[in-house]
Amino acid sequence: MAENIEKFLNRVGEAAEQSTLVKVTLSKPASKHDDLRNIYVKPVLIKEKLLFAFTYHYERRDEVKNYDAAQMLETLREMLPERFFNAVLFTVSEDITLLVSSKGKATIQTKKVQESREQNLDHDKQKNRLLNPANPWWYQLGLTTREGKITADMQHKFKQIYKYAEIVESLVKPMKFDDTVHIADMGAGKGYLTFALHELLTQRLNLDVDIKGVEIRPDLVLKINEIIQSDHLKGLEFVESSIEAYRPEKLDVLIALHACNTATDDRASRRVPT
Ligand SMILES: C[S@@+](CC[C@H](N)C(=O)[O-])C[C@H]1O[C@@H](n2cnc3c(N)ncnc32)[C@H](O)[C@@H]1O
Repeated sequence: MAENIEKFLNRVGEAAEQSTLVKVTLSKPASKHDDLRNIYVKPVLIKEKLLFAFTYHYERRDEVKNYDAAQMLETLREMLPERFFNAVLFTVSEDITLLVSSKGKATIQTKKVQESREQNLDHDKQKNRLLNPANPWWYQLGLTTREGKITADMQHKFKQIYKYAEIVESLVKPMKFDDTVHIADMGAGKGYLTFALHELLTQRLNLDVDIKGVEIRPDLVLKINEIIQSDHLKGLEFVESSIEAYRPEKLDVLIALHACNTATDDRASRRVPT
């Protein structure tokens, strides 16, 4: 019933006005062919103005748009029930769930939360991120705009790179290093993972590193070394070499990911921990 949808939207409007809105989620797309999977809305303070950040989760990318309270309600009204059948409003004290059946019947359920929550208006997530897309090399490598926003067609790639950083962080964090860590990234390609590794280890984990990206293609090596030099990155260098010919003086960690042709086998024959 449209009445319950209006009732739900009124509750969202009240929560926004009373600063009790923690988040709103929209899920269960009305069409299974819809590329938009769900939407996550949270209040944010931008330049001292209260806005509502909509994160649109598409199949292979995310998009964020900020709206004021009126635009937020208008956007939710357009989405319910045309695009989504489920919506949940999380306030500091209650969860209010809107469920629309395939026949269009809308019901509302309200549940008090056990422990009261707080509204989080923090917009600056950068400081807690393992990788900062605003760093210039992500633009130079072709993943972001000049302003440091991940481009639409690189969202999926950046997610993969970020996942890699998370895995590496969980492995490295418990370890202790007293000296420079010597790392070879075999078949480093365009350098996405090599830069992610360098950023994570130096900027997040404060390690002293000597990372060599070993790559057989001279054009890539030249281009990447130019980026490294322009950003004055210490402890990172690309080396033009085949894996089989590469002989580092020191090596603590060897990485070989998605290497093509015989590259994966070649690094296996190096007998170094990977
Ligand atoms: C698919 S890319 C992977 C890049 C990166 N490791 C990643 O996971 O995103 C594989 C790279 O390995 C390089 N490569 C393949 N065989 C190689 C070899 N024998 N020695 C050095 N580089 C090699 C290719 O030129 C290519 O740039």
